[in-house]
Amino acid sequence: MSGQQSTLRLGSTAPDFEAETSNGKISFHEYIGDSWAILFSHPDDFTPVCTTELGAFAKLEPEFTKRNVKLIGLSANNTDSHKAWIKDIDEVSGSKLSFPIVSDPERKVAHAYDMIDYQDATNVDDKGVQFTIRSVFIIDPKKKIRLILAYPASTGRNTAEVLRVVDSLQLGDKHRITTPINWVPGDDVIVHPSVSNEEAKTLFPKFRIIKPYLRLSPLDATNDN
Ligand code: BEZ
Repeated sequence: MSGQQSTLRLGSTAPDFEAETSNGKISFHEYIGDSWAILFSHPDDFTPVCTTELGAFAKLEPEFTKRNVKLIGLSANNTDSHKAWIKDIDEVSGSKLSFPIVSDPERKVAHAYDMIDYQDATNVDDKGVQFTIRSVFIIDPKKKIRLILAYPASTGRNTAEVLRVVDSLQLGDKHRITTPINWVPGDDVIVHPSVSNEEAKTLFPKFRIIKPYLRLSPLDATNDN
């Protein structure tokens, strides 16, 4: 892994790394194993927005676990700092944060994942070195990157949206569907353009044609065969 910013795209293999975390040393790909993973960075421990975010991810962790998704945080702080801060997070949020937070003071992982900020001059450590931004990577069991988000330091993320994308990706891997704007589980899905109308009659018996290129269908237990 070099110190250069890398260019990661959807479909890239998530760079592997070894690092200290709040739960001990990990090898990233080994940690993921056969699961999905969400690697998400925050700018700095003991800061307000980050505290609310980490607490929210910790409280939603059971929903990620149900979907075979492991969470892992990251910032440029060290492990002692993470451990002390986790106590605050749990106190403030009523959470029980148990997923690891990577300690990346040298920004090695941050550079590999392009998590460095050039925009916010206040998002720097006491030596003026940039902190990480609020990045999110959804990584599948083949270690392929399936989603990349980058939020500014000023704006907390939306954990429900991250979970929603996991649901959409996992459903799309299982069925020949895509999901429309603002879709949430239970809503109609879009029949994938590669599915002919003839095939759709079998795969999606209740599908309806809105336009030749836009076909909607409910998705229920009957689609699981
Ligand atoms: C925050 O978490 O509130 C924060 C962290 C770094 C820069 C700006 C805001």
